[in-house]
Amino acid sequence: MIVIKAQDLTFTYSGSKKPAIENLNLEVKEGEFIVITGPSGCGKTTFARCLNALIPSFYRGEMKGFILVLGMDISKSTTSQLSKYVGFVFQNPENQLFSLSVERDVAFGPENLGLPREEVRRRVEWAMKVTGITHLRHAAPYELSGGQQQRVAIASILAMKPKIIVLDEPTSFLDPLSAHQIIETVSNLRSEMEITIILIEHRLDLASRYADRVIIMDRGRIILEGPPSKVYGEDAEAIGVGIPKISLLFNLLKREGYDLGCTPVTLEEATQAIRRRIMDDRS
Ligand SMILES: Nc1ncnc2c1ncn2[C@@H]1O[C@H](COP(=O)(O)OP(=O)(O)OP(=O)(O)O)[C@@H](O)[C@H]1O
Ligand SMILES: [Mg+2]
Repeated sequence: MIVIKAQDLTFTYSGSKKPAIENLNLEVKEGEFIVITGPSGCGKTTFARCLNALIPSFYRGEMKGFILVLGMDISKSTTSQLSKYVGFVFQNPENQLFSLSVERDVAFGPENLGLPREEVRRRVEWAMKVTGITHLRHAAPYELSGGQQQRVAIASILAMKPKIIVLDEPTSFLDPLSAHQIIETVSNLRSEMEITIILIEHRLDLASRYADRVIIMDRGRIILEGPPSKVYGEDAEAIGVGIPKISLLFNLLKREGYDLGCTPVTLEEATQAIRRRIMDDRS
């Protein structure tokens, strides 16, 4: 099932001359894990705003083409309608947390959906377990580390059981270890529930390991798209996105005349490729 379908989607903010996104065509299947990356200002957040109808209902401007999210045309839907199905996690978790305890924060969303108390309780327990924060249930969110706060923000969204979760650079304020843990938590969601993940991320070393598809944007357009091992060639390097170091190494070797026939995204894949080549050379 297609959960997101954008066709020739173009959006120009009021007062701007240039579109922030231009002729975007994209289909996302249910359950896919998509990473969107690209240089600052290329339109990633603008695209994300279309997924919960903040564009065009909150951010004004001119929209051309269309985008359907779970079959709903965003130009005819409201953010509150979509918020039942599309959950958002932002760069700065502090903006999403406001209760005096972790547990209360996670309960806020399902309570607002008007669910029975027992169901709210079940969801809160489940969301805290999935994100590894059960032991923090009584802590005040403002006392927690950035990584822990981001987990609480994710748990708060999950407790609403969204069909799509959109994370806009959720690791940008985190140290490498916390960032790794957040991306692993996100990728593990797929084994816990039927969910489509849209992760906007610069740290491709981490995210590529788990993504089904990487979308590279530049100046409002999708420039490259495909499985991680197919998109990190020299074109991606030229755009200036932070492609995994191991992919860079293989691109460099290729330029030096040593083509191993692939662009691995993890050390494990690289090791396999080198091993294969050694075996071939020996036989
Ligand atoms: N509210 C707004 N009003 C007018 N222009 C905006 C608004 N938000 C973003 N823009 C412009 O739209 C373009 C795309 O911005 P956007 O925030 O979508 O990029 P981004 O890829 O998310 O960048 P970053 O990696 O820095 O977060 C930029 O030129 C930006 O200045
Ligand atoms: Mg952004």
